Amino acid sequence: MEPMVEDLAREARQFLSRVDSSIALEDFRIAYLGKKSKLNGLMEHLKTLQGEERRLFGIAANALKKELEAAFEEKKSSLGTERPVSRPGFDPTLAGVRPSLGRIHPITQTIQEISGIFRRLGFERVDGPEIETEFYNFTALNIPLDHPSRDGFDTFYTSSGQLLRSQTSTVQIRVMQARKPPLRIIAPGRVYRPDAVDASHSFMFHQIEGLMVDESVTFSDLKGILHLFLRELFGADTKIRFRPHFFPFTEPSVEVDIRWAQKGWLEILGAGAVHPNVFKAVGYDPKSVQGFAFGLGVERIAMLRHGIPDIRLFYENDMRFLEQF
Ligand code: PHE
Repeated sequence: MEPMVEDLAREARQFLSRVDSSIALEDFRIAYLGKKSKLNGLMEHLKTLQGEERRLFGIAANALKKELEAAFEEKKSSLGTERPVSRPGFDPTLAGVRPSLGRIHPITQTIQEISGIFRRLGFERVDGPEIETEFYNFTALNIPLDHPSRDGFDTFYTSSGQLLRSQTSTVQIRVMQARKPPLRIIAPGRVYRPDAVDASHSFMFHQIEGLMVDESVTFSDLKGILHLFLRELFGADTKIRFRPHFFPFTEPSVEVDIRWAQKGWLEILGAGAVHPNVFKAVGYDPKSVQGFAFGLGVERIAMLRHGIPDIRLFYENDMRFLEQF
């Protein structure tokens, strides 16, 4: 081959082997195939030659032209659908649009955070069914059929006599039936109530139940654990108040309030020493075991901590709300 043509062929092949974008390919086209390209320079040179020399040079230059054009087309299709380079307004160096990622719902976040605190206090997280029997939701929890406190808890019954649980206290019974003390569990989950929906009520919400049972578990253990928990969750200087209350399944029982700026004392959870009748219902001997239990509303806590004014916001799947957490 003609040495001039051969030099250019080597150079062009090398260039093309490094082309990995449509920008670089365009550079290649301008340098080797365009009007002012080196290949065109060869064609100009051809005009100055005569006879056999001209014939041989012409064959070589045309062969190179064909080769480079074919190689250009091949590269172009292998770079695929990449946009043409020189289109005005297209900046290939700009970052792409990231697809938006999902995130954890604020209720789940609150449950995870609370579970984390109790995990560090040695409490194991357990689950229980949302569809229950009257035994687990009422009878075993020392709530007899005709007890007035059933009214606020009477929920949605199935035709087979089961019901949607109205409290996570059902899980206390299930765990005690299945295991022997010592026990330290928390049980988060949904509960259902015959409540009209408004800014602070919902027919469905989330609770976290806690239960500790051992040979000797006193009310001061209950106070100590709940103090630790509430100060971990709301801050070390949180003021806490225990108020006498009534629950059928604990005796004595309390409601626990925290002091909230502007709003005063706010009820945050119910608790108490496990009632002997509850121990009897699960086959424990009330003379040889003691325990405490507590139950808290997850939405309530999430609303307080984040300043959320309406419980319905949690359930509407509005991205403008959910994206803030
Ligand atoms: N189950 C009670 C409720 O739903 C809360 C509670 C749980 C109270 C455990 C005492 C002990 O209101």
